[in-house]
Amino acid sequence: MRKIQLALVGVGNCASSLVQGIHYYRDKKPDDAIGLMHWEIGGFTPSDIEVVAAFDVDARKVGKDVAEAIFAPPNCTAVFCPDVPKTGVTVRMGRVLDGVSEHMADYPPERTFVVADAPEPTKEDVVRVLRESGAEVLVNYLPVGSEEATRFYAECALEAGVAFVNCIPVFIASDPKWEARFADAGVPLIGDDIKSQVGATITHRVLAKLFADRGVKLDRTYQLNFGGNTDFLNMLNRHRLKSKKISKTEAVQAMLEQPLSAENIHIGPSDYVPWQNDNKVAFIRMEGRLFGDVPMHLELRLSVEDSPNSAGIVIDAIRIAKLARERGVGGALIGPSAYFMKHPPRQLPDYLARQMVERFIAGEPEPEPALELSLNGDGAAEEAEVGYEVPAARGGSRTAIAR
Ligand SMILES: NC(=O)c1ccc[n+]([C@@H]2O[C@H](COP(=O)([O-])OP(=O)(O)OC[C@H]3O[C@@H](n4cnc5c(N)ncnc54)[C@H](O)[C@@H]3O)[C@@H](O)[C@H]2O)c1
Repeated sequence: MRKIQLALVGVGNCASSLVQGIHYYRDKKPDDAIGLMHWEIGGFTPSDIEVVAAFDVDARKVGKDVAEAIFAPPNCTAVFCPDVPKTGVTVRMGRVLDGVSEHMADYPPERTFVVADAPEPTKEDVVRVLRESGAEVLVNYLPVGSEEATRFYAECALEAGVAFVNCIPVFIASDPKWEARFADAGVPLIGDDIKSQVGATITHRVLAKLFADRGVKLDRTYQLNFGGNTDFLNMLNRHRLKSKKISKTEAVQAMLEQPLSAENIHIGPSDYVPWQNDNKVAFIRMEGRLFGDVPMHLELRLSVEDSPNSAGIVIDAIRIAKLARERGVGGALIGPSAYFMKHPPRQLPDYLARQMVERFIAGEPEPEPALELSLNGDGAAEEAEVGYEVPAARGGSRTAIAR
């Protein structure tokens, strides 16, 4: 039976939902498995994923079995599968670097990170753990703003030949220098910044595209988000948000024929409301003009449990990263990154990215879409032609994975 050996960096709420899900779907059948885009990908069901290594820095998680750590404070996401059996994998102390923002110390322990008093590993230590555990895919779930820490773990993944799924807005897959390093090493990469199942970003993108397709000129828009988990608490430090704002704003701008000027688009995390826990609320407002220059506006309120919403995407990204690895495909996976992530190497309309994902799963090399959609300096999308042209430019075997 083929399995997927998974390593986690950050055993927070998103990791909790993912690990619960791996167990939750164990007894399901394709017909009663709710909440998945794919029951099976390349022969792998969700429960074929096994956690073989995990790193965190919180005293209440380090040294615990992963099955216990996912329910330790300050995690506060919905428990939809309380009886996750012991994994036999102990959460190891990670390298702190810039993972924990100073302002987190101003909040009570049940709400914030408490850094463990354990020796931090070197790069060689982390690479050794990845190699010895047999990890094939590493998922990065660090807090927003963990620039150095993300680069540290990405470096470890590269050296160990482990595929990297980057769920956070630190640019790795969408940074050409990093992308080239993964491509040269033949290591698959999916990133950056998870675009949740039905979250604020995908909803805002779909509506922006709807306005454009129906001839409505969008003049102004905002997307205000707030929640009560450590992700929102961490994001109260505005200095950590630069790449998050770029990632979320570009994801919407890319759907518009003409980009909005900076003062007419406001998208970002807005506040922290402790009692909301992992519930996230987003308010979206869009003001536009339709036939005859006549104004219209749309108001939307979305309420969703944040972490299962992201796990529903990561459960597919992991399986696709594994397939790429088996097929010897290295570098950023263009279609999957565009479908699963807010800030991919190439922004594509979601319907096209989805087709590329399906084709990749079916074993076709990743197509270069003839639909040329490039971001200009302001982040606007330019579409040339719709359709596929499938040269072997990407996705054929580059370098075989050296392991
Ligand atoms: N829908 C979503 O939930 C969603 C969507 C897009 C992106 N993301 C991003 O995914 C990431 C994870 O989200 P989350 O809700 O699980 O966050 P979280 O705050 O619950 O978890 C972060 C974990 O990282 C640990 N950590 C901090 N520094 C570390 C280090 N240096 N090494 C190892 N571990 C460290 C913390 O102790 C904590 O357990 C965040 O950056 C978030 O913005 C989430």
